[in-house]
Amino acid sequence: MRSVSAAALVFSCVASIASAAPTSAFTFDNDPLHNGFPNPNPDNITNIEQAAHGSLPIAAAAAKNASAKAPSADSLTSLRFIAFNELFEVAFFTSLINNITAGRDGFKMNNGTAQKYLLDGLTAIQAQEELHALNANNGLKANKQNPIEPCQYVFPTTNLTDAIALASKFTDIVLATLPDLQTGFANNGDNSLIRGVGAVIGQEGEQNGFYRQFDKKNKKIPSALPFLTAGTRNFAFSALNQNFVVPGSCPNLADITADKSIAIFAPLAVNTDGGNLMPQTQNVQFSFVASEVQPEWKGTNNDWSGLSLVYINQQNAPISEKLTNVQLATGSDGITISFEASFPFDGVAFGNGLTLAAVVPSNSDISSVVTVSANTLAGPGLIEVN
Ligand SMILES: *[C@@H]1O[C@H](CO)[C@@H](O)[C@H](O)[C@H]1NC(C)=O
Ligand SMILES: *[C@@H]1O[C@H](CO)[C@@H](O)[C@H](O)[C@H]1NC(C)=O
Ligand SMILES: *[C@@H]1O[C@H](CO)[C@@H](O)[C@H](O)[C@H]1NC(C)=O
Ligand SMILES: *[C@@H]1O[C@H](CO)[C@@H](O)[C@H](O)[C@H]1NC(C)=O
Ligand SMILES: *[C@@H]1O[C@H](CO)[C@@H](O)[C@H](O)[C@H]1NC(C)=O
Repeated sequence: MRSVSAAALVFSCVASIASAAPTSAFTFDNDPLHNGFPNPNPDNITNIEQAAHGSLPIAAAAAKNASAKAPSADSLTSLRFIAFNELFEVAFFTSLINNITAGRDGFKMNNGTAQKYLLDGLTAIQAQEELHALNANNGLKANKQNPIEPCQYVFPTTNLTDAIALASKFTDIVLATLPDLQTGFANNGDNSLIRGVGAVIGQEGEQNGFYRQFDKKNKKIPSALPFLTAGTRNFAFSALNQNFVVPGSCPNLADITADKSIAIFAPLAVNTDGGNLMPQTQNVQFSFVASEVQPEWKGTNNDWSGLSLVYINQQNAPISEKLTNVQLATGSDGITISFEASFPFDGVAFGNGLTLAAVVPSNSDISSVVTVSANTLAGPGLIEVN
């Protein structure tokens, strides 16, 4: 696995930006929520709970019980990951609400009734995500661990339709990941953490049905699949850092990455239609930067023939495809490897909803999402159909 220090920042579509902190990055520094978040006082929390239509759970309070078992180190890493992810989500929905309210270009709504309905929903979601973040950080504090502090963030979207589609995409990634965390909690004997995460899985699923129905021109059915696509903590942590986090802007990223099982993989860009594919079998174009994977990949003289592309979709066995039409181009990042791989869509066994793509050495164990993740050199490429 690659060291986390050189995290690159790429968008899930074609564009990539320089790693210098963009002036437009979202920061919590000037209290943009006007409620003290991420460090609200008890009165602020009462207001957040009202906006969220509900309250923080008792789980963190139970963890304060001195005779209760302390969570394992791996479970604490998962709590840190949850806080890290939820802080990003709060930032995203705050930016989105501000854009709609201010009537920014791309976010203007002409229909006041529809705008109010949307803002009512998003305002509750924003507050609900605040409570998700506070709950994870409360769990850390109750176990005498530092809470996770927010980073600075950039969002690739400049209009409402794209922003809601992106919310659906990162919610899909969260939904892929939370069962991985639950499995970890169970394996670690931290059963008391499982139920609360389950409550959030359903909650995020409700959100996603709303996002999926939002674009009236491209209306999706509310529920994508019978069994949503599986993910791992490292795929999600990589996606967050690759796509949204301004490199170097996280005050205590090291608290998370001190756990050597945590990795930020090299980014794998999906260059066909920003990963939003038509429901058909097709060749898809991908690329990654050679130097990003070279510390682990011992292929010499730019011989990239020993790699495969693996897809993960639903709870099914991962699918391996050959890299075809491999091209090497030298640019400012050094050598970029571009290639194509078949996306064998059939609409039932493979291809609807979220698909994660990863580049792995061809001789890897790819029998499950866990082994694919453990062998990933570049990923996750993010693909959505229907
Ligand atoms: C919450 O925090 C803000 C800081 O933004 C503060 O101005 C406000 O008075 C606090 N109290 C309540 C009840 O929101
Ligand atoms: C504290 O935890 C122990 C062990 O899980 C349990 O038996 C006990 O009832 C708990 N006490 C309180 C006050 O929750
Ligand atoms: C809000 O608008 C700004 C300016 O167009 C844009 O950079 C940002 O990505 C938008 N936020 C979201 C969540 O789309
Ligand atoms: C405005 O939005 C509301 C709620 O979605 C809808 O019922 C109404 O028909 C819309 N009005 C127009 C003029 O489109
Ligand atoms: C939103 O932005 C994307 C990317 O720039 C563009 O392709 C799309 O047409 C825009 N959609 C709307 C409704 O403005």
